[in-house]
Amino acid sequence: MHNVIILGAQWGDEGKGKIVDLFSERFDIVARYQGGHNAGHTVKIGDRKFVLKLIPSGILRPGKRAVIGNGLVVDPAALVSEIETLEAAGIDVASQLRISNRAQVLFPWHRLLEKISEDRPGRVSIGTTSRGIGPCYEDKIGRRGVRIADLLERDTFPARFAALLDEKETIARAFGLAPEEDSAATLAQYADLAERIRPMVCDTVRLLNDAIRAGKSVMFEGAQGTMLDIDHGTYPFVTSSSATAGGACTGTGVPPTSIHATVGVSKAYVTRVGAGPFPTEALDQAGDHIRVRGNEFGSVTGRPRRCGWFDAPLLRYTAMVNGFDSLVVTKLDVLDELDRIPVCVAYRRGKSEVTEMPPTIREMEHLEPVYECLPGWQTSTFGIGRYADLPARARDYLNFMEKHTGVEIGGISTGPERNQTIVRPGSRFQQLFQP
Ligand code: IMP
Repeated sequence: MHNVIILGAQWGDEGKGKIVDLFSERFDIVARYQGGHNAGHTVKIGDRKFVLKLIPSGILRPGKRAVIGNGLVVDPAALVSEIETLEAAGIDVASQLRISNRAQVLFPWHRLLEKISEDRPGRVSIGTTSRGIGPCYEDKIGRRGVRIADLLERDTFPARFAALLDEKETIARAFGLAPEEDSAATLAQYADLAERIRPMVCDTVRLLNDAIRAGKSVMFEGAQGTMLDIDHGTYPFVTSSSATAGGACTGTGVPPTSIHATVGVSKAYVTRVGAGPFPTEALDQAGDHIRVRGNEFGSVTGRPRRCGWFDAPLLRYTAMVNGFDSLVVTKLDVLDELDRIPVCVAYRRGKSEVTEMPPTIREMEHLEPVYECLPGWQTSTFGIGRYADLPARARDYLNFMEKHTGVEIGGISTGPERNQTIVRPGSRFQQLFQP
């Protein structure tokens, strides 16, 4: 049985939640490895819709283990609220969910510090989700963070809490901001939340490695997307964690030698939320059409997403960084009505073609996308479940994407439901998920 990483090939919101949920049936464990409640996975099962932020979507499959790995930053209040929503829907969270004792704890002051940082005059605003994710990771890397295991230590936690709070209040005061929180109430709240999650906390590194050694299979679920990765994304317009495939190892403690494949998830077009370069952004009516037709509004923040055309050079780059074995293309049906569909096949700068992804925002903003226009299929692909049933022009579009990215398209999603998915016969993807 394979251990597989599934992650976003663009700027997040590619529809990973549905794909992970669908194929989690084939795995014993689904593990998240980075990010926090900035992520938002929407999974639709019949007439029920679940928005998962911290908990891996494997939780929706009875009997499957869902793991929050050490690479995450966990807001305990957000986690408990998510647990309660799932429990109210009849899901046995207590027996399915395990939370790493090494994950970082996110506190209310992380949101305050993010506000200071985003609002500061002269600073480039990243357009974050305002969840405090970046400042929490700063504390982790600054070696002053509090981990879940520390939160559970009843006797030492209050002193650690007070020390960190004191430091953050000093910073807030320096920026003329009054600390918003009632610290005694926050301490008591965190002590309560600790007890609520305690039965689910364990050494998930050991749990995952023991399970793999016993022949169990793990799916690693990436959050955000490759272009939001702290190292490989459009820095500084990125999130503060390792969203790429490499993050799966550091964020779970499972070695690379135990992971067998990576699968990218990409929309049939591109979206991004927040600020930062986006070479193929469509600022015209076509972009508006995609936004409305694809319901491109953030599942966590509700912000309208920026929309644009499929970008093959960007995908070649993300395929290189992650080593994609296969690609799943989602939301193909959103393009159904278009009579012409531009696809970016190369970038130009002046007269020369750019083959590398530029390291700076300035250089990236100067890229001119070179488009080829494909004829639209102008018929509904919504809900189609077999490759052969797709209109010929939709298949041509997918073949064109494949040719220009160098990655096989093994899966295609044609709607939000589990059964509105095509697994391409004979693909590597089929081998991985339908052995
Ligand atoms: P942060 O993760 O809240 O720090 O936000 C940093 C950047 O990542 C912003 O541009 C966000 O819009 C973006 N971002 C964070 N999480 C997601 C996500 O789940 N989907 C898409 N964009 C995200």
